[in-house]
Amino acid sequence: NKNSPSLFESKVMKEKAHTISGFSKLSKNEKIEWLVESYFEDSNEAKKEFQAHWHPDESQQKILDGFSENTISNFPLPFGVAPNFLINNKTYCLPMVIEESSVVAAASSAAKYWYSRGGFKAEIISTKKLGHVHFCWNGDANKWLQLKDKLEKTLRSHSSDITANMEKRGGGIEDIELLDKTDLMDAYYQIKVSFETCDSMGANFINSVLERFASCLKEFVAEEPSFTNQEKEVEIIMSILSNYTPECIVRVSVECAIEDLKLNNEEDARALANKFYKAVQIAKIDPYRATTHNKGIFNGIDAIALATGNDFRSIEACGHTYACRDGQYRSLSDCKIEDGIFSFWMEIPLAVGTVGGLTKVHPIAKRSLELLGNPSSNELMMIIAAGGLAQNFAALRSLVTTGIQKGHMKMHLSNILNQLQASDKEIKEAIFYFKDKVVSHSAVREYLDLFRSKTQGKPAF
Ligand code: MEV
Repeated sequence: NKNSPSLFESKVMKEKAHTISGFSKLSKNEKIEWLVESYFEDSNEAKKEFQAHWHPDESQQKILDGFSENTISNFPLPFGVAPNFLINNKTYCLPMVIEESSVVAAASSAAKYWYSRGGFKAEIISTKKLGHVHFCWNGDANKWLQLKDKLEKTLRSHSSDITANMEKRGGGIEDIELLDKTDLMDAYYQIKVSFETCDSMGANFINSVLERFASCLKEFVAEEPSFTNQEKEVEIIMSILSNYTPECIVRVSVECAIEDLKLNNEEDARALANKFYKAVQIAKIDPYRATTHNKGIFNGIDAIALATGNDFRSIEACGHTYACRDGQYRSLSDCKIEDGIFSFWMEIPLAVGTVGGLTKVHPIAKRSLELLGNPSSNELMMIIAAGGLAQNFAALRSLVTTGIQKGHMKMHLSNILNQLQASDKEIKEAIFYFKDKVVSHSAVREYLDLFRSKTQGKPAF
């Protein structure tokens, strides 16, 4: 039929039904209304579900809404704690926000294990943050050699209003370098700046300084008498902090005599140490294994970063770049067995803050920091690193002994049982039954059906 829309036209019409202009200006209820009508078959149910996750206290919800745009609801994740972390002889209970089962259990188990073996030792190696003004400039590069000091002075004096507060707290701009990158890209230069940002992660501070530097550079170049007319122009490409902070490093380690690795049997302890060592070596030489190995480390790191209101994406991005700093992606942790001592450690860049950002605004992030004794950012770096190493230790110990499915399946089983609304008695019986069996959704359902048919008429609680 000539008048009926073509397949393409009807596809476009369908897609159009899903587009909207001025969405951000709608109220939250109007946003939900549009969303559920456009995308959900059970629109009333969907609406109720989104609304059910609003915070009961309106002022708290307002805080959450303020973090992002177009918020219509909240997305709950479990907030767990891993107690018994002995770090530099101080005991901590670590807050962890993570959706993956077994992570908090593994961290807790590793914490308890190392508690009786001296705990975690951690130290801050460096705390430098970095940022760059990336720009293009055509001219005689040698002229900059004479101008470096003058430029640095100008940049510092023109940004003193932004840096004054940070300087009062003991931080501010450290080094300013002008880098000629023309061998990599035509006319490409950088102003590379290093910062000390004290207890803040410093992203806003760094970016504000860099943007000021960029406008200052423009003026500097335009006014520099030694430059030709062509040299008096600069094209600012961008000014932005780098999430790669290879000079913001924390070291964390655990160690004990090999025979103490297992308290019951020296033979087992030696076997565990050797296998563990080999597992780490594999992660150092094979990028496929290294990726999973490091993912395990970030299970711990991200969970604490998230719980304390820190930016886990920047932490991860940085960690992965650091993991391939010699050209190949490798394990972030390392292990050695020497003179009868088993040592396991990692040095990792962690740019975190305990002031600014979400840290003191998010109600639970604030509680997390309180739980940790309101640490400085350096202390938090050490705590997070310990959480990462603990996670890595627990994963490797399982992998080289029982395999990880044993622990995972326990949680998996309990999740399935909860989904199937098993009673306490059914849960207890099921855990016993599945001790030596493979857990799957269908197997658990079958088991429960059978159990229920047998106990029919008798209360199963
Ligand atoms: C799972 O989230 C993390 C592990 O795969 C890490 C590892 O293999 O080392 C268990």
